[in-house]
Amino acid sequence: MALQDEITRRRTFAVIAHPDAGKTTLTEKLLLFGGAIHVAGAVKSNKIKKGATSDFMEIERQRGISVATAVMGFEYAGCKINILDTPGHEDFAEDTYRTLTAVDSVIIVIDGAKGVEAQTRKLMDVCRMRKTPVIVFINKLDRPSKEPFDLLDEVERELHIRVRPLAFPISNGPTFKGVYNLYEKNLSLFTSDEKLTADASTVEISDLDAPELAQHIGGQFAEQLRQDVELVEGVYDEFDRDAYLQGELAPVFFGSAVNNFGVRELLECFVRIAPSPRPAPTETRTVEPQEGKMSGFVFKIHANMDPNHRDRIAFLKICSGTFERNRNYLHVRSGKQMKFSSPTAFMAEKKSVIDFAYPGDIVGLHDTGNFKIGDTFTEGEALKFTGIPSFAPEQFRYIENADPLKFKQLAKGIDQLMDEGVAQLFTSALNGRKIIGTVGALQFEVIQYRLEHEYNASCRWEPISIHKACWIESDNAAQLADFKKRKHTNMAVDKHGRDVFLADTSYALALAQENFKDIRFYFASEF
Ligand code: G4P
Repeated sequence: MALQDEITRRRTFAVIAHPDAGKTTLTEKLLLFGGAIHVAGAVKSNKIKKGATSDFMEIERQRGISVATAVMGFEYAGCKINILDTPGHEDFAEDTYRTLTAVDSVIIVIDGAKGVEAQTRKLMDVCRMRKTPVIVFINKLDRPSKEPFDLLDEVERELHIRVRPLAFPISNGPTFKGVYNLYEKNLSLFTSDEKLTADASTVEISDLDAPELAQHIGGQFAEQLRQDVELVEGVYDEFDRDAYLQGELAPVFFGSAVNNFGVRELLECFVRIAPSPRPAPTETRTVEPQEGKMSGFVFKIHANMDPNHRDRIAFLKICSGTFERNRNYLHVRSGKQMKFSSPTAFMAEKKSVIDFAYPGDIVGLHDTGNFKIGDTFTEGEALKFTGIPSFAPEQFRYIENADPLKFKQLAKGIDQLMDEGVAQLFTSALNGRKIIGTVGALQFEVIQYRLEHEYNASCRWEPISIHKACWIESDNAAQLADFKKRKHTNMAVDKHGRDVFLADTSYALALAQENFKDIRFYFASEF
């Protein structure tokens, strides 16, 4: 198949949601439709159960699952679909943000009873920033839910995006009857014994005034549906695919993932309207997927679960050209040529060695500790893809070696965990002590546990009071030197030797910004 055909048939996306809205369940049903799995329950939830912050086995279990489900590929209606998994726990939100740099669109799942929740809002902010096309799936309609028009208004208002329903529910909770597909003009009826299969009974109803409608859903609901559909057609413009592709308009579907209801409608529409791989910006130019030469970037690194094999998997998103096994590629950061004898692709939960991969695909590369998030591979051009965010850490602790004999192991462990993007390391200018900054408190436990189990090193945490870390830069060398001298006790360097100001309080930060006008303060760095 020609490169262009391979590109056109690819859909790479992520399902994102506030925890518990039904992301795992929906993902599983999509895989079921794609024939990638055959029974429900095959995809394990990768969320850390509530109250599990000190349950280390749970952390390990979660990591195991997140390797297995990092990418799930399947074929549907001639399309090659790649679903990228994102962690459920908000302490790992930055991992989710980075994954969003590797997708071409997203499906946001919302609980119909709860509506838009905190995490939904944050994730949507990232999508909006990147202009990622978004489809909304409102889930759990088999439970008493908010009114559909209220939900549509809420999504529009809270997520700051125009909406257009492409399916409309007929009642909800115990009287949930089904979903009318506005896109295809047919009706899917809800029978709740469809949990484990991919079949839903679909009735073609092209004319909502036809008497059959009442036979299927009863007179009262038939009348309600007619009114609702009339209102939808009256209030909302025709679905505008270009606006969707620009990230300005979100088509909305309703259903019940656990009952496998409304999922087919979603998937069929998704393969038709969702974008194939999009051009990717770099520091020097925009890379088009159909360019002949291969390029791609690492958006995720995962350590091997087996402590006897300290190797890692780097996840490479292909942005252009054809990736080939055993072919030399330039690792742009080091300037070295590298080739991979066993690159892997992911189909559902199976990994297999592949010979070729195309734009939109995710390839697992064996890494012995050389790669970092954001690394680029090309056929020679020194490209650097942009927009792969680092996060501004919000929690800080000193890390101390708890076993003097294991100093080397500790240093290596910290180094590799930082490359994986688990946290960030700063070295204090005042006393040379090492400070770890994370987004969530859970990462401190994860780091301690992993240092012990994977690197045979032990660490101790000590409190430090820091409000925020920000990277500083200035063209005014004198002012920068003055700032660093005055703020000596609050200065540090990051892993790459860049200057970082560790502000004690928001007031101290505001004051510093006020008094040092020539200094630029950055709250996120790029790797
Ligand atoms: P998440 O990945 O977004 O965190 O959510 P997940 O799919 O794990 O779903 C969270 C809970 O919501 C699960 O129940 C799941 O069964 C349930 N659920 C998902 N879709 C629907 C739906 O359409 N209707 C209803 N009524 N429930 C739904 P749980 O009790 O936490 O787990 P489990 O014991 O059922 O696995």
